[in-house]
Amino acid sequence: MKLPDAIQHAEAYLAERFPVEKMNYASMVRKKVVPVHRLSWGYYLGGLALFFFMVQVATGLMLLFYYQPTVSDAHASVEYITDHVPGGALIRNIHAWASSLMIGSVIMHVLTTFAMKAFARPREITWLTGVALLGITFAFGFTGYLLPWHQIAVNATKIGLQTIEEIGAYLPGQMATWPRAIKEIIQGEASVGQATLSRFFALHVIILPLTIAGILGVHLLSVQLHGMSQGIDGSPKRHEKFFPTFFLKDLRVWGVGFMVLFILGLCLPFESLFSYPLFEPFNPKGSTPDGIKPEWYFFWIYYPLELLPFWVIMLGQIVLGVVLLGTPWIFKDTNRHTLQLLSVAAGLYLVVMTVFGETIYHLFQG
Ligand code: HEM
Repeated sequence: MKLPDAIQHAEAYLAERFPVEKMNYASMVRKKVVPVHRLSWGYYLGGLALFFFMVQVATGLMLLFYYQPTVSDAHASVEYITDHVPGGALIRNIHAWASSLMIGSVIMHVLTTFAMKAFARPREITWLTGVALLGITFAFGFTGYLLPWHQIAVNATKIGLQTIEEIGAYLPGQMATWPRAIKEIIQGEASVGQATLSRFFALHVIILPLTIAGILGVHLLSVQLHGMSQGIDGSPKRHEKFFPTFFLKDLRVWGVGFMVLFILGLCLPFESLFSYPLFEPFNPKGSTPDGIKPEWYFFWIYYPLELLPFWVIMLGQIVLGVVLLGTPWIFKDTNRHTLQLLSVAAGLYLVVMTVFGETIYHLFQG
């Protein structure tokens, strides 16, 4: 292909993915409709993830008034928020619960958009920005976990970072040193310490929020420009107006989300779900506590990592990454029935590993 042809081709490609002529109130709001069918509930999940994200921003900003990102004061500042700041325990608890609920809704959103083939042309960019949002959502969880600087957090982060270094053993020649270098860049010093806390803090409160805001902007713009995908093979029974009908229903779902979050935040301290004492401050001379585990949303990879050879997991991760990034092209001709089956299978795997991962682990370890 000659250069002018290639430019024309690229222009046409982008014009189809970003039909800017539709960037007006009439197309994006007044004329927008949502298909009504048996999978329509899936259309609420992106909005729900967005709601929990907004809660995270609001509660995170409140926590910032008191949190101190230093190894000497981080733990004490979190204790101070919990025990002395009026409403501090509630805000902290809501931030912890909303992080889990946001990750849960994002995972459900991936599974339903996949099942409804919402990634297909011309929504490839919606999907690809979504894959980036998925990675960032997990990165929020990983970086946030270290901030209270307690025994479990620091040790779990050490293990997580160590896993990056282990990849080196499977790479040839000079490349074998790259994972270690990446780990040291993230860690900032020889062991997890002040430099690591500063970096995780910068990532958690500035770099990741700015990045997610930009990518989310493109994601939502492309959703608005294309309207909702039809969701099922065949024609949907009917359509309803996005504004005000679906929008009001969206707000109702957000209201339920808020009530669930508020009740959980008020009645069930997030930490009470853990069997180990979360509130021990990190002691560099202390031993790694027994039974140390990452947050529940990493169980799908954590238990297989404990049971299977490391190279199998790495291979699995590469395949997963390629499949996620290549979805719009790999499943271009797959019908929605097959996509639904794949989605249910992936959902079942996630549920089984999250709920029964520990039992399966003990079963195989004897
Ligand atoms: C921070 C995380 C995310 C937020 C806040 C978010 C938000 C949204 C919203 C509000 C919508 C429109 C309503 C809906 O269809 O549910 C949407 C649509 C969509 N999202 Fe996301 N999303 C996120 C992550 C993801 C991820 C991880 C993927 C996939 C890898 C993804 C793929 C899609 C697709 C393909 C659509 C179009 C749906 C359609 O046209 O029917 N999103 N997203």
